[in-house]
Amino acid sequence: MEQLLALEMVRVTEAAAIASARFMGRGDRMGADQAATEAMRRTMDEIDMSGTIVIGEGERDEAPMLYIGERVGRPGSAGEGESSLPEIDIAVDPLEGTNLVAHGQGNAITVLAASERDGLLHAPDTYFDKLCVGPIVAGKVDIRLTPTENVHRIATALGRNVNDITVVILDRPRHEALIAEVRAAGARIKLISDGDLSAAISCAVSGTGVHAVMGIGGAPEGVLTAAALRCLGGEIQARFRFRNDDERARAARMGIADDDHVYTTEELASGENLVFAATGVTSGDLLDGVRFFGGGARTHSLVMAYRTQQVRFIDTVHMFDRSKPPAVRL
Ligand code: FBP
Repeated sequence: MEQLLALEMVRVTEAAAIASARFMGRGDRMGADQAATEAMRRTMDEIDMSGTIVIGEGERDEAPMLYIGERVGRPGSAGEGESSLPEIDIAVDPLEGTNLVAHGQGNAITVLAASERDGLLHAPDTYFDKLCVGPIVAGKVDIRLTPTENVHRIATALGRNVNDITVVILDRPRHEALIAEVRAAGARIKLISDGDLSAAISCAVSGTGVHAVMGIGGAPEGVLTAAALRCLGGEIQARFRFRNDDERARAARMGIADDDHVYTTEELASGENLVFAATGVTSGDLLDGVRFFGGGARTHSLVMAYRTQQVRFIDTVHMFDRSKPPAVRL
């Protein structure tokens, strides 16, 4: 079931990527996000599923679509009444890297994860302190240790010198001390302006030259990261970092009581029938961006299913005018 679902889900991220890629370099981050969100919503309703958004664009009163709790999909029918399809929870980030698209920079992606009911943590829209690594390093780091200790553990696990390790960190003032410590430990740092989710997936894909992601970023992105890393055998460790008492109170209402609990990959994305899909909007370490040509576009996506351990990179040609044959070239 999840293999079919995975292939349907990639249609959703592809549609969102094509819509938002039109905004590349146009300085309109909101427009890019809205285009991705609308395309995602529209395409989801073409899929036979009974879905609920558990991580989305915000609460019902602050987001017009893909809000938390929104029902999506074409539920089909077993006669009158209830849907005949299994209930699916869906986490989306219609456009991860709105600023990247607005400024024409790389590594923007459209993302979603799906699982059986309750297979994805319903994380509030706040921050997580995160440590993400790939499969060889998984189980050998601990976010409660110092960054220096973790960088050394990563190097040992990979059989490299510390100065051959590259850590990705969001370029934010809050990371001043972290950046100084990782530099002092001798590791290389790739500072990024946005997009710690795509960077975290890169840790688990050899050849990207990324070995870890450290620092504070979005909690919803952390759950999506967990879904991807679970499929790839990587690891995320995360603990909430609330910006204010309102966020802490909201989290408490959602049942999150212990601020310092370190969430594991499995706690964040516990589903057995997990699927994950992402499509490149602008070209990056992991995926090519959308390439438009006369009458169509070409997209590059990553689609994974946890249970079957299948990882697909999908290169798709989309013709906008269906009366014309697909313009396919290698
Ligand atoms: P958008 O989805 O709004 O484009 O944000 C992307 C992102 O850079 C994430 O990758 C990251 O987790 C988060 O924003 C960081 O938040 P902040 O910009 O508040 O530091």
